[in-house]
Amino acid sequence: MEPALGTWEAIDSLRVVRTFADQPLEPAALERILNAGRRAGSSKNLQRWAFIVCRDREHLLELSTIGPWAGHLAGAAVAVALVTPDPRAEDAPLSIEFDLGRAAQNMVLAAWELGIGSVPATVYEHERAADLLGLPDGMHCEYVLSFGYPGDASSLSAPNRAGGRRPLAELIHAERW
Ligand SMILES: Cc1cc2nc3c(=O)[nH]c(=O)nc-3n(C[C@H](O)[C@H](O)[C@H](O)COP(=O)(O)O)c2cc1C
Repeated sequence: MEPALGTWEAIDSLRVVRTFADQPLEPAALERILNAGRRAGSSKNLQRWAFIVCRDREHLLELSTIGPWAGHLAGAAVAVALVTPDPRAEDAPLSIEFDLGRAAQNMVLAAWELGIGSVPATVYEHERAADLLGLPDGMHCEYVLSFGYPGDASSLSAPNRAGGRRPLAELIHAERW
């Protein structure tokens, strides 16, 4: 497990990977990724998340049907389902989704530093996802992350797509909008 990138290099080179090599993740690499999620800060330090780790190929194939753009889960080395209390419950604080996004990005960056790619799958079939993941009542999964070494190793160092992100000048306002 040899980290290859610094923080800024990881942030600036990160892109999604949807095709994975037939190569398992080393247990230490998976633990690093999960710890990166665990380590994220959250509102009032409530840490209202759980991560379900799925590695069984049959299970991954089933999970690849939870949304129209979830097919990549079928070929992932590991899927990590991001589970929270239902953010659509009336009393759910807005911060759940913010907190979960931070945990997810921590995992994705920790993986990228180790040469491991990832991509989210958005859940559309919520009941099916809850069933496949064995979620207890009140718990909700909106995103599942695929992880794996990229099928094409050159994707780790490919230059950013031109126009892939809006320029800073379009986003930044000084003092007031
Ligand atoms: C909230 C969220 C949901 C996403 N859902 C999916 C998805 O269901 N399937 C998929 O293939 N990619 C999904 N993506 C990946 C986006 O398509 C990707 O981040 C975007 O195209 C930028 O890609 P890049 O970082 O390689 O430039 C999702 C990304 C985010 C942030």
